Amino acid sequence: MNICVVGTGYVGLVAGTCLSDFGMHVICVDKDKSKIDMLNNGEVPIYEIGLKELIERNVNLERLSFTTDLKMAIDRSLCIFLGVGTPENEDGTANLQYIFDVADDIADSMNDYKVIVIKSTVPVGTAQKLREHIKKRLKKDIDFDIVSNPEFLREGSAINDFLRPDRVVIGSNSEKALAIVRDVYRPLYLLETPIVSTSNETAELIKYASNTMLALKISFINEMANLCDKVGGDVYQVATAMGMDKRIGSKFLHPGPGYGGSCFPKDVSALAKVAEQYDYDFKISKAIIEVNKLQKENVVKKSETLLGTLKDKKICLLGLAFKPNTDDVREAPALYAAKRMMEEGATINAYDPVAMEEAKKDIDGINYFKDAYSACEDVDLVIIMTEWNEFRDLQFARIKDTMKAPNVYDTRNIYNAKTISDLGFNYICTGRPVK
Ligand SMILES: NC(=O)c1ccc[n+]([C@@H]2O[C@H](COP(=O)([O-])OP(=O)(O)OC[C@H]3O[C@@H](n4cnc5c(N)ncnc54)[C@H](O)[C@@H]3O)[C@@H](O)[C@H]2O)c1
Repeated sequence: MNICVVGTGYVGLVAGTCLSDFGMHVICVDKDKSKIDMLNNGEVPIYEIGLKELIERNVNLERLSFTTDLKMAIDRSLCIFLGVGTPENEDGTANLQYIFDVADDIADSMNDYKVIVIKSTVPVGTAQKLREHIKKRLKKDIDFDIVSNPEFLREGSAINDFLRPDRVVIGSNSEKALAIVRDVYRPLYLLETPIVSTSNETAELIKYASNTMLALKISFINEMANLCDKVGGDVYQVATAMGMDKRIGSKFLHPGPGYGGSCFPKDVSALAKVAEQYDYDFKISKAIIEVNKLQKENVVKKSETLLGTLKDKKICLLGLAFKPNTDDVREAPALYAAKRMMEEGATINAYDPVAMEEAKKDIDGINYFKDAYSACEDVDLVIIMTEWNEFRDLQFARIKDTMKAPNVYDTRNIYNAKTISDLGFNYICTGRPVK
């Protein structure tokens, strides 16, 4: 099968590469020429474990190629996967401009039957709108179908998630199109991956429902952690015991500095907005947004309480990515903390194993360092913002000797409080007793 994937970001590039690894011929398209040039030179524009090797293998087998020429890619493909961004508009709705731009190009280039597969996260009703939009724009009477196929991969484990998903959701009103897309995912049948076939609308809703539920779990445990801080409880034990209840499950019950990334913030917001458009007040979505905002600000507040004031203090942030194993800093709690703390008059040092270049594009004024130890020199406070593996076994005795004041804030609870306190640090964390 010949496939074209539009958008070579985290979703498009991973999906395109993995589909080529299934044996399909895949052309990946992006309008960003610099990304395509990098890919054609054997470089990978995003950080994702194992991706470079997988791209190399499939390019060498001539199953995977990269271009900016969408028309050529459409001509050669039966299925056109859309993996372009759907960022948040200022009012919280999803910005569908990139989706509709590609739809225009598809309508202008299409010569025979195509299946347009929406992999991007889009609000309920988008497939229907896209169908009408393309129909109106087509100059000839050409048949096409739209399939909603939301993606559930996580940055940092994207390839594994794509190749071994918990489920594949495909929604369409066309049996023919469903059969074609089921065929694309046929290699996953061997792993007995459930394929859930629905209408377009239901598939669109499933994605928002899933992300909002995950954001809810994180926000719930963050609020429990805040309460534990006040009453002296241990959120780790609360979460562990809660997770033993199979109805609840143990995943996504790790408290921290608030969720970030390119998905949860915009998707929770878009669900609230889409509900509003249908005259439904989705109260939980709004509460999640509010709780997460407060949780990010909480990092600033707790640091201020620890230091007395942030003015003229030097603070080291360890980790900038919104989670480990990615260079994505979109909506990262670390960048929020850096901005707010600089506003309060602090100087920010930072180190992240891979996300510093991305952070530089987003924020000015941070001092970057080549490793955790040099970033911690002469600072009043070290804050662990991202639980990268390399921060899990830092030599704190060595760090203490070079700091101005021995303060550690472990927002991700990766250290044993007693071990760090016994070294003479003022240690704070998220929802666990320190003494
Ligand atoms: N990142 C994730 O973890 C994740 C997971 C699941 C779903 N999603 C969803 O998938 C979609 C894509 O997310 P992403 O993180 O991969 O985005 P991204 O911003 O990393 O990549 C999007 C790419 O699309 C390209 N693009 C935009 N308009 C184009 C056009 N007209 N023609 C060709 N290329 C075009 C951009 O240049 C960019 O390279 C979003 O809707 C997102 O919500 C993301």
